[in-house]
Amino acid sequence: MLLGLTNDQKLGLAGTAAVFIVFALIVALLIPRYRPDFPGRKGLSAFIVLTTVLMIAMLGAVEVFAVEEHHGAEAAETQETEPGETETGPTGTETSQSTTAAEEPQGSPEAGKSVFASNGCGNCHVVAAAQSEGAIGPNLDESLEAKDAEYVKRAILDPNAEIAEGYQQGIMPDFEGQLTPEEVSDLVAFLTQG
Ligand code: HEC
Repeated sequence: MLLGLTNDQKLGLAGTAAVFIVFALIVALLIPRYRPDFPGRKGLSAFIVLTTVLMIAMLGAVEVFAVEEHHGAEAAETQETEPGETETGPTGTETSQSTTAAEEPQGSPEAGKSVFASNGCGNCHVVAAAQSEGAIGPNLDESLEAKDAEYVKRAILDPNAEIAEGYQQGIMPDFEGQLTPEEVSDLVAFLTQG
């Protein structure tokens, strides 16, 4: 902890400690040698006042130095962790996961499988994971191999924007408005991961 302090702060804390130690030694050892009844009846209240004032001053000093040190540590922490967390994440694996999550809505491949089945996609497409053997459209196991989620999403919502090689426009139904955004991301998850 002391390592994080500036020299000024260290001096301040050391000075505070020194004042306290010197005061304690003088009061406990030195003065009683010459005045065995110290602080005595008369001096007692003055001594209590002095001690209290000194104690508050000590606390105040430590508080000031501790607060400064705390701010410093906090600033350093924010600087250190913020870029690390946003850019790289705690581990490499999580990074790639969260990057994917940020780029496209996260769908469930399991749910996507039933969306695929209930919308008749299998009537036109081969997808082994869905046990479908439709031959009107491309075999999606093969044709989507090198495609990203963005491409698959566009192929479903705007099929005529880009026509798979060797196929005609207008056969693949436009599912824009037919599927909820959630169903679409489930489908995309199923077709890209499953
Ligand atoms: C009536 C037949 C038919 C149905 C039903 C159908 N598709 Fe298609 N699909 C096609 C045809 C034909 C193509 C190729 C032309 C094109 O790219 O639009 C295609 C293309 C695609 C592509 C692009 C493939 C590539 O390699 O570019 C994807 C992805 C796709 N369909 C997914 C689906 C999904 C998901 C469903 C169900 C929600 C579905 N299709 C329903 C006929 C169909």
